[in-house]
Amino acid sequence: MAPYLNEELYISAINQETPSKLADLVGSNLNIPVEDKQRLLELVNPTARMEFLLSLVNKEIEVLDLSRKIQSKASEELGKTQRDYILREQIKAIRRELGDLDERAEIEELEKKIETVGMDESAQKIAKKELERFSRMNPSSAEYTVSRTYLDWLVDLPWQVSSKDTLDLRKAKQTLDRDHDGLEKVKERILEFLAVRKLKPDQKGPILCLVGPPGVGKTSLGRSIATAMGRKFARLSLGGMHDEAEIRGHRRTYIGSMPGRIIQEIKRAGTNNPLIILDEIDKVGTDFRGDPASALLEVLDPEQNNTFTDHYLDVPFDLSRVMFITTANVLDTVPSALRDRMEVIRLSGYTVQEKLVIAKHHIVPKQVKENGLTTANIRFTDAALRFTIQSYTLEAGLRNLEREVASICRKVARKVAGGSKKKIVVDEKLVEKYLGPPRKIQECVSTTSQIGVVTGLAWTSAGGETLFVEATSMPGKGKFTLTGQLGDVMQESAQAALSFVRAHADALGIGDDVWETHDLHIHVPAGATPKDGPSAGIAMATALASLFTHRPVKAQLAMTGELTLRGESMPIGGVKEKLLAAYRAGVKTVILPEANRKDVRDVPTEVRKQLKLIFCDSVMDVIKKALEPKTSPTTKKKKPTKRK
Ligand SMILES: Nc1ncnc2c1ncn2[C@@H]1O[C@H](COP(=O)(O)OP(=O)(O)O)[C@@H](O)[C@H]1O
Ligand SMILES: [Mg+2]
Repeated sequence: MAPYLNEELYISAINQETPSKLADLVGSNLNIPVEDKQRLLELVNPTARMEFLLSLVNKEIEVLDLSRKIQSKASEELGKTQRDYILREQIKAIRRELGDLDERAEIEELEKKIETVGMDESAQKIAKKELERFSRMNPSSAEYTVSRTYLDWLVDLPWQVSSKDTLDLRKAKQTLDRDHDGLEKVKERILEFLAVRKLKPDQKGPILCLVGPPGVGKTSLGRSIATAMGRKFARLSLGGMHDEAEIRGHRRTYIGSMPGRIIQEIKRAGTNNPLIILDEIDKVGTDFRGDPASALLEVLDPEQNNTFTDHYLDVPFDLSRVMFITTANVLDTVPSALRDRMEVIRLSGYTVQEKLVIAKHHIVPKQVKENGLTTANIRFTDAALRFTIQSYTLEAGLRNLEREVASICRKVARKVAGGSKKKIVVDEKLVEKYLGPPRKIQECVSTTSQIGVVTGLAWTSAGGETLFVEATSMPGKGKFTLTGQLGDVMQESAQAALSFVRAHADALGIGDDVWETHDLHIHVPAGATPKDGPSAGIAMATALASLFTHRPVKAQLAMTGELTLRGESMPIGGVKEKLLAAYRAGVKTVILPEANRKDVRDVPTEVRKQLKLIFCDSVMDVIKKALEPKTSPTTKKKKPTKRK
């Protein structure tokens, strides 16, 4: 009767000579609990053994008999339909035989959950309706699983589960300080934010938006805030997200539809008040699949996110207790409606000194640990770190530095794993050995003065950068060429610069005759990188003035400012990033618009001390301060040294 006992066993059983051995053989092959087998072994008296074995065999026979009955009953009920249907009927029959739960019980359990997880009334109504539908479904239909999954989502969401905020400001400060060096202002702002939360817990707080170049610690700050507040943490990367459904889910009519990422993260967090980082909000795309930004608008709006409705769930879920923090590299590409909703905190790049401190306190220990090393195996000298920062990375943040340090750690790990017992001290020589020759990617400005070449300062999503405005002229008919992938705004700045210089030719000491008899060309390397923005206007005017007056631009000088046709120098953005870039590139003097004087306060003193800052209101003033006195017109133009 038992399908698992084969012919050979039978033969070997009838050939046994002692009852004891027979009992062993039968007992060990029966499908019985280990405890029973153990008891059988423990019985030494052959009669007792055989008696006990008999009871076991009888029990097994009963079970087998029963399952045969079930089988035949099931097949009677069905005839010859699909296989899975048979199986399901078998399960049913087994359950019936066992007097065990039937479908009703499953449904009752769901019903109980719907009532107890604390959904609001409307959600409960919808869930109950779905359950009603579900109870009438045929378990073999495709709809059945869809409906079941949906009900599971509904009852598994943390409708009423919240974690308690720890709003101990002193502890929060400790956590923030432990995880991040510097960033005093940012931390200060975060602590204020937490303080308000503490005093007014139901306050619909503003949404923080951390803006800054890559690798300055935006994402890791978010994580740190979650730890400081004792909240669950979730990160949602928006970079390259095009599809609205990723935020808001697909309707259930689609096969394989799921709730959107927000609901998914909340379920994963298991609380209805996690801290969710919406990372890289400036990189959300828009296309035919809908506009994720508009879905984000709803998510981030405290007035309406208490009834956020995911397409899949189709019932509102209250997001008002979730704390959102967003991050971005630049704000320009963030839709303005979104921008209005957020309180911006700016993080800027780090100076070499700051990077060194962060590397020592955080990056090196982290990488040492991550690569399976300990402080007994490896030590970085300060000089080596400084060398790595200056000669192998060129960035506002710390990403590449972290990568290079990791690379060194891996090489050391290989040595240690290979049996080296000595503590390896990483100095400059070793860095060079491991990372290859210094890449000299430091931007450098020319140390000699040149005619028609001005160092400008740009502000991009990667932080600040120096750029060179080159102007030259040749005999021709007054044509004006602009190259270097300049955007519309930058081209217009160039036009304005030319108009201004022509209009003030007299005052600048330029002859009237040059305009009709010369072609003019302005180029901004690197030619392959698109550039835009108005902040090079002053630099362009200065380059042209230098070209036509044959007065070289002072060495190691950079400038930034927007030009108006009246000759004013207008304020620009990103002062701190730009000054950091100038400092990195070896600039000694920077000319800035007067109106930007207030922004200089944020610049680290280390940088401020090294740079001479000149504030000017007018372009004429800039030109006067930037150009050397007149030399002979035959001075040879030299190209600036440019980073590779
Ligand atoms: N001020 C800081 N103190 C300590 N570590 C920092 C600091 N700023 C950045 N980091 C580290 O640099 C790395 C990159 O930071 P990340 O948060 O990914 O940057 P972002 O999100 O701004 O691009 C992380 O390992 C982070 O811990
Ligand atoms: Mg990040």
